[in-house]
Parts: sequence; C-alpha cells; structure tokens
Amino acid sequence: MDFSIKPELYQSLRFKLLCVCFAAFVLWQAFAFRVRQENRRLRLRLEARYAERERIARDLHDTLLQGFPALFLKMQAGVARLPEDSVERQFLSKTLIQMGELIVESRNKVSLLRSVKSGNLVAFLSDFASEQAGDAGMMLDMSMGDGERDLSQEAFEEAFFIMKESIRNACRHSRGTLLTIRVDYRSDALWLIVKDNGNGIDPAILAAGSKVGRWGLIGLHERARQVSAKLSVTSRLGIGTVVTLRIPGRIAYAPPSKKRRYI
Ligand SMILES: Nc1ncnc2c1ncn2[C@@H]1O[C@H](COP(=O)(O)OP(=O)(O)OP(=O)(O)O)[C@@H](O)[C@H]1O
Ligand SMILES: [Mg+2]
Repeated sequence: MDFSIKPELYQSLRFKLLCVCFAAFVLWQAFAFRVRQENRRLRLRLEARYAERERIARDLHDTLLQGFPALFLKMQAGVARLPEDSVERQFLSKTLIQMGELIVESRNKVSLLRSVKSGNLVAFLSDFASEQAGDAGMMLDMSMGDGERDLSQEAFEEAFFIMKESIRNACRHSRGTLLTIRVDYRSDALWLIVKDNGNGIDPAILAAGSKVGRWGLIGLHERARQVSAKLSVTSRLGIGTVVTLRIPGRIAYAPPSKKRRYI
C-alpha cells in the first residue's frame, strides 16, 4: 500500500523561498540604513566645515581686507607728495603696485573661502573659465554630457572649488593655448575634467604632490577626499596637464525627494 506524508509547512519549498526573500530584505534594509547613516555623517561634518570657513572669511574680510586698502590709499597720498623724479618716490611706487596686487590676491583667496553653495555648476564654471581663459589668452572648449542632474550641496562646493583651482592653475601656469573642460553626469558618478595643452607640471612637484609654500594642489586632494571622490592629476612635459575628478553618484547627486527611500 502506497502512502505519503505531507511535508510540514516549514519543510515546504515555498516556505524556504519566503525565508530567503525575508533574509535578503533584512540585509538590504541594513545596508540601506548604513549608507544613509554614512551620508548623514558626511553631511554634518561638511556643514561644520563650511560654517568654520565662512567665519574665517568674515573675520579676514572685516579686519585685514578692510584695513589694508585704507592704508594703501594713505600711502598713495603720501607718495604723491614726494618730488616726481626722486628715487624714493620710484621705489615706493613700485612697492605700492606690489601691495595692490597682494590685496587683489588676498581678496580672491577670501572669496574662495566663501564659495557658492549651490546652483548650476556648468553655468558657474563656464563664467569662471571664460574669464580666466580670456585673461590668459587661451581658447576655451567646454562640453557637457546629457542628463544634467541636481548636485548635493557638499558635492557642489567641493567640485566647484576643485574645478576653479584646476582652471586657475591651467591659466596661470601652463602657458598653453587651449583649455578643455568636460562635465559628465553619469548615473554611477559625476565626472569632471580640466585639461590644458601647456608645458606640464614640473615632475619634481608632481612627485611631491605639491610645491613648497603653495597649497593649491594639496587642497585639491583634501577636498576630493571630503566627498570620497577619486582625483587624478596627470601631466607630461610639453604636452599638458589633465585633472580628473570622479565623485560617486550617491554623494554627487541630490536625493530625488523626501519620500521614503530604500537606499
Ligand atoms: N596646469 C599646470 N601647468 C603647469 N604647471 C602647473 C599646473 N598646475 C600647477 N602647476 C605647477 O604646480 C605648482 C603648484 O601648484 P599649486 O596650485 O599648488 O600652487 P600655485 O598655483 O603656485 O599657488 P596657489 O597656492 O595660489 O594655488 C605651480 O606653482 C606650478 O608650478
Ligand atoms: Mg594653484
């Protein structure tokens, strides 16, 4: 006589499949929770940094940058009283020119500290690059991939700074004739490239990662690290320099909405 015993509920294939699905769901939720926590921590850290930078910029502006131009004008008035062909007047006039340049440079540095927090990255870059390239007598070739997306505040800040410093370096140091900028909003990452066809970075500086007493290249790497981005600076003498920045999509792009998200 044939007989069969019905499997218990927990022995059925359907039950086992359900368990696997449930375990996968729990793991996925735990992973999503970790990612959200990481992003929140990063955001808080960056907000604290921005607040500190704004404070420094405000202090510098209210003290040094207000005081120096006033002293500069006083000195100019004093120099104008000296006989025109005197050696002292010529010496002080040259010193005044250098002082004026220093004031402009300091203003630029402080304005970097107070950078824009959000907006259209491509539009800001295009304005900045045209001005810099124009001053350096370089041609500008700027292009953007399809599918422009809103950037998170932290990615915008860091990307804008890194691009500005790279553009400025290309225009100030490269002696090239063409400045190329590329922005690509790929789904997995935001790609930004600044390229020049100039004389290239001195290999000793490139190997050391910086030039003594200069902070631009160091700042690029520090800022890239803040947003878990990959930054590469490659350069060949007589060929030019390429700065490539890749910010992972989960940090680069603003979250789509406040609706419940699973990641
Ligand atoms: N695109 C470039 N082409 C050629 N040389 C470059 C380029 N970018 C950087 N360099 C060289 O690397 C050096 C270091 O660059 P970095 O940005 O750190 O300093 P800086 O531009 O001289 O000063 P700052 O501190 O104001 O940025 C430069 O002085 C320059 O000699
Ligand atoms: Mg620089």
